[in-house]
Amino acid sequence: MCGIIGAIAKNNVVPVLLQGLQRLEYRGYDSAGLATIDNNKLQRIRSIGRVADLARQSSTACGYIGIAHTRWATHGEPSERNAHPHLSGNLIAVVHNGIIENYEELRMQLTTQGFLFTSDTDSEVIAHLIHSHYSRGNSLLAATQTAIGQLTGAYAIGVMAADNSNQIICARKGSPLLLGLGTDGHYIASDLSALLPITNNILYLQDGDVAEVSLSGYQIFDANGNTVERAVNICKLHSSKAELGEYRHYMQKEIHEQPQALINTLEGVCNSQALVPGIFGADAARIFPQIEKILILACGTSHHAGMVARYWLEEIAGISCTVEIASEYRYRVSVPDPGSLVLTISQSGETADTLAALNHAKDLGHTHTLSICNVPESALTRLSGLHFLTHAGPEIGVASTKAFTTQLAALFILTLILAKQRGGLDSKEEYNYLHALRHLPTAVDSVLKLAPDIARIAERFSDKRHALFLGRGLHYPIALEGALKLKEISYIHAEAYPAGELKHGPLALVDKEMPVIAVAPNDTLLAKLKSNLQEVRARGGELYVFADAGTRFHSGDGLHLIQMPEHAGYLSPILHTIALQLLAYYVALQKGTDVDKPRNLAKSVTVE
Ligand code: F6R
Repeated sequence: MCGIIGAIAKNNVVPVLLQGLQRLEYRGYDSAGLATIDNNKLQRIRSIGRVADLARQSSTACGYIGIAHTRWATHGEPSERNAHPHLSGNLIAVVHNGIIENYEELRMQLTTQGFLFTSDTDSEVIAHLIHSHYSRGNSLLAATQTAIGQLTGAYAIGVMAADNSNQIICARKGSPLLLGLGTDGHYIASDLSALLPITNNILYLQDGDVAEVSLSGYQIFDANGNTVERAVNICKLHSSKAELGEYRHYMQKEIHEQPQALINTLEGVCNSQALVPGIFGADAARIFPQIEKILILACGTSHHAGMVARYWLEEIAGISCTVEIASEYRYRVSVPDPGSLVLTISQSGETADTLAALNHAKDLGHTHTLSICNVPESALTRLSGLHFLTHAGPEIGVASTKAFTTQLAALFILTLILAKQRGGLDSKEEYNYLHALRHLPTAVDSVLKLAPDIARIAERFSDKRHALFLGRGLHYPIALEGALKLKEISYIHAEAYPAGELKHGPLALVDKEMPVIAVAPNDTLLAKLKSNLQEVRARGGELYVFADAGTRFHSGDGLHLIQMPEHAGYLSPILHTIALQLLAYYVALQKGTDVDKPRNLAKSVTVE
C-alpha cells in the first residue's frame, strides 16, 4: 500500500526521503515520487519504476524540506502522471494515502473554478482544494483544515507550499501517520519503519489530527481545531532488526525468525507458573467471565488464525465461536449479541476492513472487544478495549509468516485462560500446556531444519500450474494458509479443501498433473485422512505428504514424504504451517518471482 515520508531538516532532505521510501518498499507499490522546495520553487521527480530508479533521477535534487510517496494504484493506472506528489499550480504539493470517496464531485467543482487536472487520481483534488483556500489568504494550516473538512473518505496527507519552506502540514483520518522528532529535523511518515534509522522519538497522530511541523517544533490540532498534546513514544525497535542479514529475502528471514518471535510473544506466559487474564489488559479478569461467545473478525492470513482458534476455543474452552471475514461482516445484516467478545486479529492493526468491522460491531452494541495485533499503537489496538501484542517484530515480506504463528500462540493462550476460568482446565493440564508452549520454539527449530528437504521437493513444482491442499479438523485452516502462501508468492493457482470434501467435487480435478499437498498430523483424524489420500492416488494424483512421526507414511509410488519431527498435539498447526511456508518459499524461488513483493499485493491493506 501507499507510503509517505516527509522531512524538514538542517541538511538536504533528499537522501532521507529516498532512504525512507526504500524502507517503505515492502508495503508494495507501483510508482514513487518526491518533491522538495528549493529557492521558493517546487521541484518534483516521479518514477513508474522502483525507488532505485527514482534515486537515480534525483541525484541533483536538493532542498531542506520535502515530501515523498510510494503509490499502490487504486484510482488510475500505475503511471508517472498518477504518481505522487500531486501539484496544484506549482504552488501546493501533496502526498496522500487512502481513498477520497467524493473526489468526482470535488473534481467537478474545482474544474469549474479553473483548476487543471493532470492525473486520474482521487488524490489530486486535495492539492487543488488546498490551493483554492490558500489563494484566498488563508495560512497553509487553515487552508488544509478547511480542505479536509470537505473530504469524505480516508486519508493521511503531507502538504507543502512553494512560498513557505518552513512548514509541512500533515493530517490523518482513517490512515496512519506519525511524526518523528530528530535532533537535526522533524519528519512525517505513514509507517514507523521509514523513520527507524533517523529517530526513535515517535508521536502517533490520532484520527482527525492535523499537525504543523517546522524545523523548530510542531503543533497538533484535533478534529475541532483545538491544540492537543500527543505522547512521544521512545520506540524500542532498531533499524537493524529490519535488515536482511544472511538471508536472501525478508520472507526467508522471517520464516527463520519464528522461534525467537514465539519466545518473545510467549515471554510473559512462559516465565510465569500460571495463566492469568491480565496479559490481555487490566480489565480482562473482569470481562472474560461475562463472555458467552466469541466473534472473530479478520482478513486473509489473520482470518486463518481465527479459524484455527475456533477449533481450540470450542474444544478446549467449551466456548462457542464464530469466525467471519471482516469485509463480509461489515456489510452484512447480522444479529448482534452483546454477550460476545469481539476478537479482531491483525498483523498491521491498520487493515481497513478489520477496523471497519470492529467499528460496525461496536455500532451494533458489542461492548467487549479484544485485538491481537503485532503493531503497538496501531489503530486497531487503540479501538479495542483489550489487546494482546504479538512480538513478532517488523514483518517486511508481504506474505505473512511470523505474524501468523505468533497470532496462533496468542490465541492458544487466550483459549487456555478462558478454559481455566470456565473450570475446563485442571492444574495438571495447565502445567502440561505451559510445558508444551515452552517447548514450541525448539519444535519450530526442528521444522526449520527440514528446509533442504522441502527445497528438493519444491523443484517438482517448477512446471506446475495448479495445486490442491488437503487438511482435516484443526489442520484444514492450515491447508488454506498453505494454499494462500503458495498462490501469493509463486502465482501457482492453489486451492484448499477439508479432505472429507474431496469426493464432493474437487476430486474431479485430480490427475497426474495435479500435485496434492496433504497436512497429516498424528491425530484422531489420521485414518480418515489416509482414506481420502487413497482416493487421490487411485486417480493418479501425485501426493506430497507432510506427516508427523508415527503416521506410517512411506515415500514411493506417487507419494513424496516430508517427515515432520514430532506431533505437537494442539500446537501442531504451528509446526505444519512453517513447513508449508518453506514449501511456498522454495517453489517461488523455482519460479523466479519477486518473493517479498508479489505482484498486485500490498503489505497493509489500508483501503477497502
Ligand atoms: C497473506 C497476508 C494477508 C494479510 C491480510 C490481513 O500472506 O499477509 O492476507 O493477512 O491482508 O492483514 P493484517 O493481518 O495486517 O490485518
